[in-house]
Amino acid sequence: MTNHRIALIPGDGIGTEVIPAACHVLDTVTARHGIRLTYESFDWSCERYAHLGSMMPEDGLRRLRGHDAVLLGAVGHPGVPDHVSLWGLLIPIRRGFQQYVNLRPVRVFEGVPSPLRDARPGDVDLVVVRENVEGEYGEIGGRLGRGFPEEMAVQEAVFTRRGVTRILDHAFALAGRRGGRLTSATKSNGIVHTMPFWDELVAERAAGHPEVTWDQEHIDALAAKFVLDPGRFDVVVASNLFGDILSDLAAAVAGSIGIAPSANLNPERDHPSMFEPVHGSAPDIAGRGIANPLGAIWSAALMLDHLGHAEAAARITDAIAAVLATAPVRTPDLGGTATTREFTEALVELL
Ligand code: NAI
Ligand code: MG
Repeated sequence: MTNHRIALIPGDGIGTEVIPAACHVLDTVTARHGIRLTYESFDWSCERYAHLGSMMPEDGLRRLRGHDAVLLGAVGHPGVPDHVSLWGLLIPIRRGFQQYVNLRPVRVFEGVPSPLRDARPGDVDLVVVRENVEGEYGEIGGRLGRGFPEEMAVQEAVFTRRGVTRILDHAFALAGRRGGRLTSATKSNGIVHTMPFWDELVAERAAGHPEVTWDQEHIDALAAKFVLDPGRFDVVVASNLFGDILSDLAAAVAGSIGIAPSANLNPERDHPSMFEPVHGSAPDIAGRGIANPLGAIWSAALMLDHLGHAEAAARITDAIAAVLATAPVRTPDLGGTATTREFTEALVELL
C-alpha cells in the first residue's frame, strides 16, 4: 500500500462542492489500486479572510509542506477583491513551492459540443504548458506621480535563463511522451528583448529533443489558429501571460469551463505540487449543488499521475470520457438537470 498525504483546500463557493466529489472519485479508484490517501482539510478562503483578515495563516506554506500534494477547489467571493485571493493564497503557494509548470490539458469529448463547428471529439487533444512563476507577472515595477497628469506605471517582465530553460525542457519532454509535436508561443516581432531570448532558448533546448518536431507562432496568429484549427496542436509552451490567455481560450474551445483541469507542478518534487480546476468559485451557482465536478475530478487524476499512479489516473480520465459520451445524467452547464452528486455517482458507477 502506497500512502500519500493530501492537503485539501476547498476554498469558496463551488470549490467546497466539487472537492468532496473529487475525493469520492479518488477513494473509489485508489481502493482498487493499492493506494491510500490521507486527507487534511484547510479552511483557507475568502470566508476566512472576511473573519480573520488573511486568506491563510502566516505559516501556511509550512503547514502544507509535509503533504505530497495540494488539491484546491477555487477561491473568490464577490465581497473580496480578486487580487486579495490571488496574491493572498494562490500565488504564494505557486511561487513559494516553485510550481513553475502550469499544465492545462484540453480535450474535446464526445457528448460535449464545442462552440467550434469543426472541433470534433478526438481531434482536439492538447496541453498548454505555461510558465508559472516569472515572466510578465513580475512584482518589479511601480507607480509614480499618482493623480498628476505625468502619472506613470512601469511593470517589468522577467525572463531568466534558468526559468525559461526549465519550462522548455519540461514541455519538450512532455511532447516526447505524447504526440511528438511542440509549438512555442512567441511575440519576438513586437517584444524585442525577452521574446527573442525565449526563441533562442527554444532552439537551444530543441537540439536536446530530436524526437520532437517543433515550430513557433506569434501569439496573435496562434490565438487565431486555436480557433480555426485546434486539432493541429499537441504541446504548446508559453510564457506566463501568453499561457494564461491561451489556456482559457483552449478551455473554451473544449466546450465547458466546468471540465478544464490544471496542475501547478514542482517537477523536482522539492515541494508539493498543487492541482485545481480552471474554473473559479462561481458565485452565481454556488450553494445549489449543481456545479460540474469534472474539472476537479480531472485535476485529481492529474494529481494521481504526478504521484506516480498513471494507471489509476487513466481510469479516471477514461471514466470522464465515458460518462460524457454515454450517460444521460449531466449538470446544467452541460445541458442536463443533474446535481453535482448525481453526476459524480454516474461517473463512479462507470469506474
Ligand atoms: P467562474 O469560473 O467562477 O465562473 C464563470 C462562469 O462559469 C459562471 O457563470 C459559472 O457559473 C460558470 N462555471 C464555472 N465553473 C463551473 C462549474 N464547475 N460548473 C458549472 N458552471 C461553472 O469565473 P468568474 O465568475 O470570473 O469568477 C468568480 C470568482 O472566482 C471570482 O472571485 C474570481 O476571482 C474567482 N476565480 C478563482 C479562480 C481560482 O481559484 N483559481 C480562477 C478563476 C476565478
Ligand atoms: Mg486565467
